[in-house]
Amino acid sequence: MTRRAVVKGVGHYLPERIVPNSEFEKTLDTSDEWIRSRSGIERRHFAAEGETTSAMATNAARAALQDAGLEADDIDAIVLATSTADLTFPSAATMVQAELGMTKGFAFDVQAVCAGFVFALSNAAALIASQQANRVLVIGAETFSRIMDWSDRGTCVLFGDGAGALILEGQDGTGTAQDRGILSTDLNSDGRYRDLLYVDGGVSTHSTGYLRMQGNQVFRHAVEKLASTAETAMQRAGVETDEVDWIVPHQANIRIIQGTAKKMGVPMEKVVVTVQDHGNTSAASIPLALSVGKARGQIKQGDLIVTEAIGGGLAWGAVVLRW
Ligand code: UT7
Repeated sequence: MTRRAVVKGVGHYLPERIVPNSEFEKTLDTSDEWIRSRSGIERRHFAAEGETTSAMATNAARAALQDAGLEADDIDAIVLATSTADLTFPSAATMVQAELGMTKGFAFDVQAVCAGFVFALSNAAALIASQQANRVLVIGAETFSRIMDWSDRGTCVLFGDGAGALILEGQDGTGTAQDRGILSTDLNSDGRYRDLLYVDGGVSTHSTGYLRMQGNQVFRHAVEKLASTAETAMQRAGVETDEVDWIVPHQANIRIIQGTAKKMGVPMEKVVVTVQDHGNTSAASIPLALSVGKARGQIKQGDLIVTEAIGGGLAWGAVVLRW
């Protein structure tokens, strides 16, 4: 018997303000055509003044609770992936805990930038497998608009804000790939590449800083590392490529998404794509895509899903789950 972390509910929240690519043409030497053709992004949502990561995370969590038919007090733990928490401390997760009215359990943040949700899922599955928690709320939430250098056309046109949440519940499985729930995970990082994508500020340097990225260098690592981590996770789960119903990738760039799918031998009809509407929302992009994919009628119970992400660190990983 294997204790599995099974998806009970999913939800998301996007800030009201939608910014089309054309907005950037007013202030930068860029064009809708360049942004679309190089990244696949057409628009993104930006948080309103005063709208925080924990507020967006709470909205996504409420939607997931409603989808699961659960109350906040049914949750044992919150694992929140973010690199843009409201405050240096406490964690955004504890703020969500309070907002939801949860008076028991525990909550903490995970920071692995764009790979954050994959790291959070892996942690949540481990909490459930070790029976430290039975129901875990896993959230990805970001306000990357707060760390954009609006004069840097190579980065500020790519990112967006938002939040997505999943509720995982412990259930006994048979130990085979036919079980529902998380079947395997694979996590990696290599700090030698930290200069490729980072924020040039932080608490111990007395600043907030702005995101800096050598985009084409990150791109080079992305396709190879994403296909490789997905392959490792699939081997671990004991599943073959032709069994996969959906790839739900981190939504950074349509060319990375297409390149990875091609390298994995999976057709684009089996890939959930939201990058055109959300831009790169870092740790929020995978739960947003899962929630939108379900709402569109793409993702259904029993589907075999491979999700993969790479970001600052570099940190990257993949999760195989049956919905
Ligand atoms: O989620 C975390 C992981 N992050 C990623 O996965 C992002 C990975 N990287 C990318 O998505 C792509 O590398 C970008 C979309 C950032 C850039 O696409 P690229 O095809 O790699 O372009 P590039 O960086 O090699 O730049 C090509 C040209 C440069 O001009 P020169 O030097 O060739 O004259 C840039 O200055 O495009 C120029 N450029 C722009 N032009 C118009 C860069 N940004 C812009 C812009 N508008 N916004």
